[in-house]
Amino acid sequence: MSMETKWWKQRKNPRDLDAQVQEASALLKEKQVVAFPTETVYGLGADATEEEAVQRIFEAKGRPADNPLIVHVADEDQVSQLVSEISPVARKLMDEFWPGPLTLVLKSNGTAAENVTAGLSTLGIRMPDHPLALSLLRKTGKPLAAPSANRSGRPSPTTADHVYQDLDGKIAGILDGGPTGVGVESTVVDCTTEIPIILRPGGVTKEDLEKILPQVMMDPALADEKQKPKSPGMKYTHYAPESPLWLVDGNDDFFSDQLQHLKEDGNRVGVIASDELAEKLDHHPLIRCGSRFQLDQVAEKLYGALREFKKSDVDLILCETFSETGVGAAIMNRLNKAAVKRIQTY
Ligand code: TXA
Ligand code: MG
Repeated sequence: MSMETKWWKQRKNPRDLDAQVQEASALLKEKQVVAFPTETVYGLGADATEEEAVQRIFEAKGRPADNPLIVHVADEDQVSQLVSEISPVARKLMDEFWPGPLTLVLKSNGTAAENVTAGLSTLGIRMPDHPLALSLLRKTGKPLAAPSANRSGRPSPTTADHVYQDLDGKIAGILDGGPTGVGVESTVVDCTTEIPIILRPGGVTKEDLEKILPQVMMDPALADEKQKPKSPGMKYTHYAPESPLWLVDGNDDFFSDQLQHLKEDGNRVGVIASDELAEKLDHHPLIRCGSRFQLDQVAEKLYGALREFKKSDVDLILCETFSETGVGAAIMNRLNKAAVKRIQTY
């Protein structure tokens, strides 16, 4: 089934902006789905209390039904309406990091539509730090279920154009807020256990959380592929570019040698590199993703870079690996999921 997808282009004038949000909100109230910008990536929103609306998200994305959605809220009152309990730890995290790239997994009270949680008794909730997202939430007056606005398996969208590439004809509209800032998704933290557990690394780092909490754990499945992840979505293929992605784990000379070998073997290679590595390579096509010493730049550019290379242009994509400190944990989590192969020095 195909529909016309309205693209509300970016406007500066507050009156125009208001009219766009009004239109998008009217569609949401009619149980349609609308993509909107958040500070992390674009989300694909629908009324989280309406099963039929939420079902449209799964259909548009081609998302497996057992993968629960994150619910977005405009204020803490909406959280109270959705969960049975807000623990002191959860309260502390909300106070410190909301609005912001942190999703809290709390006990659901059953108000959200059943397909939002994919049958789990818990609910992932966050308050996005983006004026358009907040204004859309307030105007609609409902919590919005919103996964990243990509076709399932593709890199998450960091511009309205990325959303359009994946979902034109499948959703009611796209609210354009320009490129998103953080670039990787929110950190998902399970707050239903005695010690909070990071289920997915993201925009709020483990180091940030440790400043506030006496103890935080990482889901062991994050470091061990053989373990079953606690977050259902973490088990699926993700973030896949059109051509296979290979990671190179070694110094810049090693990267350069590997690239040379692959070219000599007749491969058309696309490179994703930090500014520092790019300076040392004489190669085209190459996409720079910022300084390896400023991982927030790399996070911001990562998904755009993964979308840049087309199947018709390159046989494979070679990308360097990054430090796993700070937001580097989220960057490497996504790269490891996107990659089909890793070349290492021993
Ligand atoms: O930054 C973000 O979080 C973006 C923007 C749009 O807000 N959203 C996003 O949603 O990344 P999505 O659906 O692409 O990823 C949601 C992740 C999945 O891995 C899902 O399994 C997990 O959160 N999740 C959602 N609810 C959960 C729950 N109740 N328990 C455990 N994991 C949950
Ligand atoms: Mg996603």
